[in-house]
Amino acid sequence: MDVVRNVNWDSFAQFRSFCKRVMNFVNEIMKGYWKVWIFRTSHGLVAIGSLVSFIVVMAFAYLYLFPSVPPVVHSYGISNSSSSNSSSYVEKCNVFEGSWIPDESYPLYNASQCPFAERGFNCLANGREDMGYAKWRWKPKNCDIPRFDVRKVLERLRGKRVVFVGDSLSRTQWESLICLLMTGVEDNKSVYEVNRNKITKKIRFLSVRFRTFDLRIDFYRSVFLVQPASVPTGAPKRVKSTLRIDKLDDISTDWIDSDILIFNSGHWWTPSKLFELGCYFQVGKSLKLGMPITTAFKKALYTWASWVETTINTNRTSVFFRTFEPSHWSGRHHNSCKVSRRPWLRSWGMDRSPVSDTIMNVVRKMAVPVTIMHVTPMGAFRSDGHVGTWSDKPSVPDCSHWCLPGVPDTWNEILLSYLLP
Ligand SMILES: *[C@@H]1O[C@H](CO)[C@@H](O)[C@H](O)[C@H]1NC(C)=O
Ligand SMILES: *[C@@H]1O[C@H](CO)[C@@H](O)[C@H](O)[C@H]1NC(C)=O
Ligand SMILES: *[C@@H]1O[C@H](CO)[C@@H](O)[C@H](O)[C@H]1NC(C)=O
Ligand SMILES: *[C@@H]1O[C@H](CO)[C@@H](O)[C@H](O)[C@H]1NC(C)=O
Ligand SMILES: *[C@@H]1O[C@H](CO)[C@@H](O)[C@H](O)[C@H]1NC(C)=O
Repeated sequence: MDVVRNVNWDSFAQFRSFCKRVMNFVNEIMKGYWKVWIFRTSHGLVAIGSLVSFIVVMAFAYLYLFPSVPPVVHSYGISNSSSSNSSSYVEKCNVFEGSWIPDESYPLYNASQCPFAERGFNCLANGREDMGYAKWRWKPKNCDIPRFDVRKVLERLRGKRVVFVGDSLSRTQWESLICLLMTGVEDNKSVYEVNRNKITKKIRFLSVRFRTFDLRIDFYRSVFLVQPASVPTGAPKRVKSTLRIDKLDDISTDWIDSDILIFNSGHWWTPSKLFELGCYFQVGKSLKLGMPITTAFKKALYTWASWVETTINTNRTSVFFRTFEPSHWSGRHHNSCKVSRRPWLRSWGMDRSPVSDTIMNVVRKMAVPVTIMHVTPMGAFRSDGHVGTWSDKPSVPDCSHWCLPGVPDTWNEILLSYLLP
């Protein structure tokens, strides 16, 4: 598995300790209530009074625990206020605020007929029996995502180069986009990986060409976006490798010549993927042993942002950054994976993520247009969409990656909706 299980930044942990505090509080109140009830039942008024206050406290505790749809501040998308008169639906509505509704016309493809859906994500082929998880459509609050029209999209993408950069969740989106587009291609031999490479977890570069449309869809694995480096001399023994947070990944030169450029990063910025493996941060020649991961992540994003500003011609290239894709690990150690049959009705606080907040804060300050694909809120509900044990390694449950077809198709429908007028 290629994404860390104990996503330590997951807001869920905070939420749980918070839960515990509130539950303790409620517990105390309840103890008090029972005492009153046992010793003073004759004093009916007191009993009723304490019952009323108990209900009031419970109501407050409930509201505190489950605030109804917290107002999220969005820096992207413009609300459909009267000030906006653009014809583009994206600008009239925040497409990332909405809900999942059942739709029998989904899924949009069959992963078993798509050679680029890797076996590990093809849940149905790996024995998942309920297909309900693939039959949900994302419905933004104030608009609709245009229905996926493969012919139109393929024509729009003719002659273009689309580049995905990031971790395995970018690879999933890359696979999803290829599978979506293949439904509009008659001869599936005309779609091929240019180096005849197989899709594997560690592969650095994959490029699929749609010959008829002179279209390339590429994936670059760069889980941190910045450059891994060797250990400077004189470093303490525990330092096994470093990340140059002031320098973008060397393969970034290959990303420049593109029309659509989609990034993600986040799942690897955890102690278990860094410090516990002896990987520390470095700026120039200087080791930053004490630098917290959150700080390093922010600095790496600023490195990325200035690379985009100085290197990418945004007149040609549309740049996107996808925010944190929620995982649904549960249990005390955050290592239990129970895939539900239906989406959660609540987001349980997972619609926010410090990773996403950092990304939005950095992008907001950029001098060139970059679109944030804020997939965190929509993913929060989709506890039913993960691979679980229906992967190529059923012994290792997976509540980080998503089944294909599934949630990543929605990311692509939204991506494509930005490209179509
Ligand atoms: C936004 O658009 C929806 C439907 O198009 C409409 O019902 C709603 O009142 C609009 N909101 C504002 C603030 O204009
Ligand atoms: C739309 O906005 C532009 C300026 O942003 C303005 O010139 C134009 O008149 C507006 N159109 C309508 C129909 O309001
Ligand atoms: C997907 O395709 C495979 C192979 O062609 C077929 O066996 C399977 O029934 C299809 N699944 C669905 C849900 O249509
Ligand atoms: C190629 O396309 C045909 C017809 O759409 C389909 O039946 C077949 O499964 C595809 N083959 C592969 C390897 O995807
Ligand atoms: C992008 O377009 C604008 C306006 O057309 C122009 O001023 C600017 O120089 C262009 N930038 C590049 C890098 O071509």
